[in-house]
Amino acid sequence: MKLIVIISGNGSNFKSLYNSSSVYGYEISKIISSSNNALGNDFAIKNNINLSVINRKDYDNKKIFEDSLLKSIFDIDFDIICLAGFMYILSQDFIEYIYKMHKKIINIHPSLLPSFKGLNAQKQAFEAGVTIAGCTVHHVDQYLDNGEIILQGAVPVLSDDTMESLRERILKMEHLCYPKAIAKLMGIHKNNDSLFYNILPK
Ligand code: GRF
Repeated sequence: MKLIVIISGNGSNFKSLYNSSSVYGYEISKIISSSNNALGNDFAIKNNINLSVINRKDYDNKKIFEDSLLKSIFDIDFDIICLAGFMYILSQDFIEYIYKMHKKIINIHPSLLPSFKGLNAQKQAFEAGVTIAGCTVHHVDQYLDNGEIILQGAVPVLSDDTMESLRERILKMEHLCYPKAIAKLMGIHKNNDSLFYNILPK
């Protein structure tokens, strides 16, 4: 299984996907970063991963931005596009184009979908007073944070949590969930159960 990972920021999910690649036997063929300053860019360079920086701000509209994304992957051998902290919503045309190539597009979102879609999902969960939060890896469709769920990871909201401590706990769970979701798509991780807090490194 070959992945293209698209990031906009810290790229910690990209790093965890990379670090688990040998465990599950998938490869990262390319990383696309939508920002010149994404921390993940340095990691890609250090690890000799094919990196393209395609900065949304350099394009007048979404169509030419997406054309540039497509141009950068047309000669890349891949099976799945993994969105990992990518801050832009892809158009229906882009998504359909990828599905017509018989490839997948998946995303990780820091909530137990279908709750708390959109920006600041951890804050939404914290402010709603939920006692269980988590993350979801899902197929991407034309609606925001909406496609079919692949895998979820649940973490507790503890009584002394701050928004930041909750965000960190969810992120640790994301780092376990994303590689396992790839393994599930590869048919390796057959367990349909979600992941629970007790497997997180302390
Ligand atoms: C993660 O919380 C992810 O779920 C969300 O954006 C954040 C990206 O973090 N979509 P990172 O760039 O992978 O560290």
